[in-house]
Amino acid sequence: MARETAIIMLLSVIAGRLLLWSLGRNSHYIDTTTTPLATYDFIIVGGGSAGSTLANRLTEISDWKVLLVEQGGDGTTITDVPLLAQLLQLGPQSTMYHTEPTRAACLGLVNQSCTFPRGKCLGGSSTINYMVYTRGNRLDYEKWESMGNPGWGYDDALKYFKKSENLQIPRLKDSHFHGTKGFLTVSEAKSHTALRDAVIEGGKELGYSNHDLNGNNQTGFMIMQSNTQDGERFSAGKAYLKPANSRANLHVVINSFVKRILIDPKTKTARGVEFEMGGRTYRVRARKEVILSAGAINSPQILMLSGVGPAAHLRELNIPVIKDLPVGKNLQDHVGLAGLLFTVKPGSSIDPNRALNYAIDYAFRSDGYFTIPGGLEVVAFIKTKYADQRLDWPDIQMHIGPTSIALDFGDSAYKTFGLSKPVYTSLYKLAEGREAMTILPSMVRPKSKGRILLRSSNPSEHPMIDPNYFDHPDDIKVLVEGIKTAVSLCETGPLKALDCQWYKATFPSCADIQRRTDEYWECMARQFPQTIYHPVGTCKMGPATDPSAVVDARLKVHGIRKLRVIDASIMPKIISGNTNAPTIMIAEKGADMIKEDWKRVKDTNDVRSIF
Ligand SMILES: Cc1cc2nc3c(=O)[nH]c(=O)nc-3n(C[C@H](O)[C@H](O)[C@H](O)COP(=O)(O)OP(=O)(O)OC[C@H]3O[C@@H](n4cnc5c(N)ncnc54)[C@H](O)[C@@H]3O)c2cc1C
Ligand SMILES: *[C@@H]1O[C@H](CO)[C@@H](O)[C@H](O)[C@H]1NC(C)=O
Ligand SMILES: *[C@@H]1O[C@H](CO)[C@@H](O)[C@H](O)[C@H]1NC(C)=O
Repeated sequence: MARETAIIMLLSVIAGRLLLWSLGRNSHYIDTTTTPLATYDFIIVGGGSAGSTLANRLTEISDWKVLLVEQGGDGTTITDVPLLAQLLQLGPQSTMYHTEPTRAACLGLVNQSCTFPRGKCLGGSSTINYMVYTRGNRLDYEKWESMGNPGWGYDDALKYFKKSENLQIPRLKDSHFHGTKGFLTVSEAKSHTALRDAVIEGGKELGYSNHDLNGNNQTGFMIMQSNTQDGERFSAGKAYLKPANSRANLHVVINSFVKRILIDPKTKTARGVEFEMGGRTYRVRARKEVILSAGAINSPQILMLSGVGPAAHLRELNIPVIKDLPVGKNLQDHVGLAGLLFTVKPGSSIDPNRALNYAIDYAFRSDGYFTIPGGLEVVAFIKTKYADQRLDWPDIQMHIGPTSIALDFGDSAYKTFGLSKPVYTSLYKLAEGREAMTILPSMVRPKSKGRILLRSSNPSEHPMIDPNYFDHPDDIKVLVEGIKTAVSLCETGPLKALDCQWYKATFPSCADIQRRTDEYWECMARQFPQTIYHPVGTCKMGPATDPSAVVDARLKVHGIRKLRVIDASIMPKIISGNTNAPTIMIAEKGADMIKEDWKRVKDTNDVRSIF
């Protein structure tokens, strides 16, 4: 029954969609090039959130020839369906990494390791993500600037958030904080459950107002804003690559795996990239620049494979050192408690037994609960007792939705989070077939820092990912307070009216601890933490005087000419929210800096003015 439900659900979506597609409604797939030229002006490595944005903005200059190299393929009718986001991490558009075991976290999971997916297709992680649209807090960007990065304060960031945005929420259209002329559509889900409104009202009972958390005040609850359009996912690939696709000066190659950047060791200048496509090795040259946009895991990996990284580490692996830089350090990620489930009464949330009806609604009308992005309806930013109560500087984010880890009757979702089947069954079997609410509380500014290291000099081998969750003792304390608020939300009037009840799925190692104590929540969080999928910081932006910096404020790699990193890895400090919109903001700003820099070269006739 379990497997059948999931399969029927998927098949009906596929069948319905294919029908629409054959009628010509759905044609977002990107045309690709089969044979690259020998030389381009710019080569962009990675067609994800940042790479897609850059490919569009750089090819606005018609005499620049640009090559975008992506290791994966394109999105599909399945990646389009907002509710199915949860199922994509085990599929072909994702690379499923696993974290290194530690004694502090991921203890209840297979191999004591947390799952760690990254997008592998055009649009990158924005093609498999949960589509949540938040930007972080004003103070995040003020901090970036104060760390020695001129031009990265809040007003600068806001300019590019607005430039990128195509807001489709009528009541916010006149807001000073939003844009309507950009490529990236921001909207609210077409359908919602009764639970959504109860959560918003419950938030008010806890003292949090319902307003636009991407506006002038980040503390509160809001109906989730998402990168969706007409009930479909709107990835960075759809937003930015599709409109640029017909430009003659943009070439996109897919299923093309970049192994290294070709750097001349004498002049320390990036000359091009080496990649494999269809069993052949290509070495393509860049006249102007190579831009690394492979994301926070793979950009540092590729830099290290190319001889740019911590010298001692590279020497151990017999990689000739071209430049000693702290690549891969400063890894920061948001982490929360997974599997925090509440049951609610029938008719208030998504009913797993009606999956087929929902799928038909979606396939033929692009409406219904399948339009709910990643199964999330409300985002909240709240302040624990550790936060400065005078500031708009919340320390916990909650993602709240009408679904559960048991939604697919134990078919596959549990694997996504790293549980073994026996552990899943013992904890969540009784939740199968029931209506539920999931709350994912997470810290927005963890103090723990991890790192990325190579396992070997073989580019195909996954790097070691050590997020070092809960290394800093403050992190777990803040998270425990966040979990307590999440549980108390279920006890507010509006949720009590929906028969909200905490579903006590206790891990065996925590079974002897008194329920609902701090010690209990700490134990649970260490057993079953979940990444919020926001790794950043591994090619940190900072001045040359900062020993932990990899790129400067114009995103140029320190000490290497004609090479920039433009993606989530440059964030010097993780922002207090979801990272897709900020990454696109970084790429929009990066594209403008490249245009300014090369205009100066043209005006002065001197490349040395930038490199
Ligand atoms: C499951 C999941 C859920 C998420 N949910 C949200 C959310 O709801 N809201 C939000 O704001 N953020 C979310 N995020 C985070 C957000 O999507 C990322 O921060 C953002 O997409 C990062 O953009 P990027 O350009 O740095 O990297 P990516 O978008 O990951 O792009 C990197 C690209 O480089 C390619 N690449 C890597 N190595 C190579 C190579 N060797 N050769 C060729 N190509 C290569 C990859 O295939 C990929 O396409 C989520 C992420 C995941 C994975
Ligand atoms: C757990 O570790 C074993 C042995 O190293 C490995 O074969 C297996 O694939 C791992 N499981 C997962 C889910 O990573
Ligand atoms: C904005 O934030 C401050 C500080 O947290 C808070 O006191 C205030 O109520 C918020 N205003 C609104 C309109 O939500």
